[in-house]
Amino acid sequence: MTKYNACIFDLDGVIVDTAVYHYKAWKRLANELGFDFTEENNEKLKGVSRVRSLELILEWGGVTKTEAEKEELATRKNDWYVEMINHMTPAEILPGAKEFLEACRAAGIKTALGSASKNSMTILDHINLTNLFDAIIDGNKVTNAKPDPEVFLKGAEALHVSPSECVVFEDAIAGVEAAINGGMKVVGIGSPKVLKEADLVVSGLNEMSLERLNKL
Ligand code: BG6
Ligand code: MG
Repeated sequence: MTKYNACIFDLDGVIVDTAVYHYKAWKRLANELGFDFTEENNEKLKGVSRVRSLELILEWGGVTKTEAEKEELATRKNDWYVEMINHMTPAEILPGAKEFLEACRAAGIKTALGSASKNSMTILDHINLTNLFDAIIDGNKVTNAKPDPEVFLKGAEALHVSPSECVVFEDAIAGVEAAINGGMKVVGIGSPKVLKEADLVVSGLNEMSLERLNKL
């Protein structure tokens, strides 16, 4: 018997480390616009939507653009990003992610993806993990960005479980907050100093087990 019936996973930073590709693409865009973009600033974009990320970057660079220009810039960045993720392979799955997903499913725990990314399907297909999710809720299916709980609530709904039956795995502060706002337990992936509100913080899914899950 397991205490929880469903696990909902964020993608970027939990299953794969795509932050490096986002960083390269945003940096290229910033440089073309005549300013720099640091890794430190990239950290602040974890879990933040594409449009909001662009707005923050333009703010940091002290640049103002019209809505139409912003759309063009976001598309340009995304084209570079997609070009990079199209080369991803299963070797890029973070340690323990596949194993933990398999352990959940073997124990009868349902699995869902809950990501802000509109590129989730492309990534999952390239790393060969699509089949390990019973439901996929991504940036194409939600209107409200994390910390709004919409993405996780839709995940629970798709799995036919209530929020209290779910555990969310998240690397971003906004994502941890989204899970809490949705009435779900949440495991932070990263630093306990940053993800203070999580019920448990681990450095990666390789530190997770069904035993730890049951203790939440
Ligand atoms: C999140 C990432 O998962 O998805 C963010 O942490 C990113 O950095 C967001 O901006 C949106 O992703 P995409 O692929 O739709 O541009
Ligand atoms: Mg993330």
